[in-house]
Amino acid sequence: MINGQRSTRNKKTSRVARCARHTLGVETSCDETACAVLKGKDTILSNIVSSSLFRHKKFGGVVPEIASRHCMEQIQCVFHEALAEAKIQASDLDLIAVTRGPGLIGSLLVGVAFAKALAYQLGIPVVGVNHMEAHLVANFFGRPEPKRYIGLLVSGGHTMLTYCEKGKVRVMGETVDDAVGEAYDKAAKILGLGYPGGPVLDQLSKQGNPQAVHFTKPKQDPRFAFSFSGIKTAVLYLTQDFKTGKPKSDAPAAKDIAASFQHAVIGWLAEKAIDACEFKGVSDIVVGGGVSANSYLREKLTRDAAAKGVKVWFPPLVLSTDNAAMIARRGFELYQNGKRSKLNMTGNPGLRIS
Ligand code: KG4
Ligand code: ZN
Repeated sequence: MINGQRSTRNKKTSRVARCARHTLGVETSCDETACAVLKGKDTILSNIVSSSLFRHKKFGGVVPEIASRHCMEQIQCVFHEALAEAKIQASDLDLIAVTRGPGLIGSLLVGVAFAKALAYQLGIPVVGVNHMEAHLVANFFGRPEPKRYIGLLVSGGHTMLTYCEKGKVRVMGETVDDAVGEAYDKAAKILGLGYPGGPVLDQLSKQGNPQAVHFTKPKQDPRFAFSFSGIKTAVLYLTQDFKTGKPKSDAPAAKDIAASFQHAVIGWLAEKAIDACEFKGVSDIVVGGGVSANSYLREKLTRDAAAKGVKVWFPPLVLSTDNAAMIARRGFELYQNGKRSKLNMTGNPGLRIS
């Protein structure tokens, strides 16, 4: 950019960038600051994640202002670490892919501003990516993507069933209230298991009796919608008196509530995902989002789907929760299909799947 460096780079990249050998992924949608370098479509050269979780723990949930400050503090060093681990220079980058939404606006703005400034300085293209779509492609590193599939997206902010064909994603249904990860986190908080509750509740469930408590299945209308706020309230009133708010002396053990909660919630997810498969006549379910790390979801959905001749895909555990490798891959795919974002692109907290 200075002393005409940028225009030289522009000429160079107009040749090189078409095949985008090195894509930088940037992910700052919530409490993580992440950068990854992808070579071609499949080879992850580096995948660095700096989490601010330890800063939110004492508040029992993510504090948006703390999350965005962490992103601001971390983005430069996470970027340099991603380059160093990939053993490349910034000038070797051909494309930048960045999470545009959905997420927390303060965090999103850090990543988007960083990605645009870097793209401008290096004279290379930038592509904005939908975080939820990226969760699905986290499944396809080194594995051939099915032509048509049902995408089950289960994260801390979203729960949805999608139909995917030739790289296009369409929403079939979603939660009408809480996301499933949110329900895990809230139930865990009620049970005093700390934050984030999903992984802890998953572990504790293994010691409990899944039949100890019967949770009523919510209506979940229309056909592919979900609802998880009722079960969270049910957990609350299992442990405390409705009128006085005092702890109940006859409450079931936390491990039994956890196991029963997990049994119910995962059962509802599996049932709907398989129903969506039958409805669309497809034989693959691809799972994405933080809750895809859940051990019982992995076991039950795989088993129930296999009984119907359906294959289930889960990302490797390291790519289940938020990361920038999946953002780089989705950006690379969009770029190959001709997508470019302008430098007036901004973060969009409510970004929908297009
Ligand atoms: O996709 P993600 O990393 O961030 C968002 O985009 O929201 O998902 C985070 C969510 C949290 O709610 C966390 O509790 C949940 O994923 N989670 C789990 C497990 N691991 C992470 N939920 C249930 N079981 C797990 N093993
Ligand atoms: Zn996520």
